[in-house]
Amino acid sequence: MFLRPQIRPFFRFTAAVAVVSFLAACGGQVEDTRPGQPVKTRQTAFKELLRSFEPMGVMLRENRYDADKFVAMTATLMSKRDAPWSHFGPDTNYPPTKATLRVWSEPEKFEQARLAFFTASDEFKAAVDSKDKAAVERTYKAVYDACQNCHKPFKER
Ligand code: HEC
Repeated sequence: MFLRPQIRPFFRFTAAVAVVSFLAACGGQVEDTRPGQPVKTRQTAFKELLRSFEPMGVMLRENRYDADKFVAMTATLMSKRDAPWSHFGPDTNYPPTKATLRVWSEPEKFEQARLAFFTASDEFKAAVDSKDKAAVERTYKAVYDACQNCHKPFKER
């Protein structure tokens, strides 16, 4: 019985270390060491896209649509949407990328998917500016589908 207070903190510490090493082993273990870090740069750009986009989906799902907040958040989304693409240069298909070979073998399809995303986000922005909730919901879904339609062929799960 008297041992427990000593053992417990030790186990807690060990468990914490184990979790940290597990995360280190699974996520982002390969460093992008190339000049300009094209893979890391585009991945960061996509994460920022997600960070500006996803919270609006949560707000819609939880019935917390706020027209003015959406205008501000969509401005951020629009300012981030150009960032990833110039970093898909030739010869940038290397670890830790999650892009599939098809990005480079089917460049016209990749470009089509990119343009579809631009069209969808233009329509979303117009809906957000109109502050018409039903249109915002519909076009948000269309942007979401445009992300997915590109990820299916062009990004590893
Ligand atoms: C035209 C294609 C295309 C569109 C459109 C697209 N993505 Fe991606 N996305 C990719 C590719 C390719 C990768 C993999 C990049 C890499 O690892 O080199 C990726 C990666 C990501 C990642 C992972 C980043 C990482 O560090 O692993 C996130 C998050 C992401 N995209 C979010 C989004 C969101 C959100 C949208 C829409 C708002 C979107 N993407 C639209 C092609 C696209």
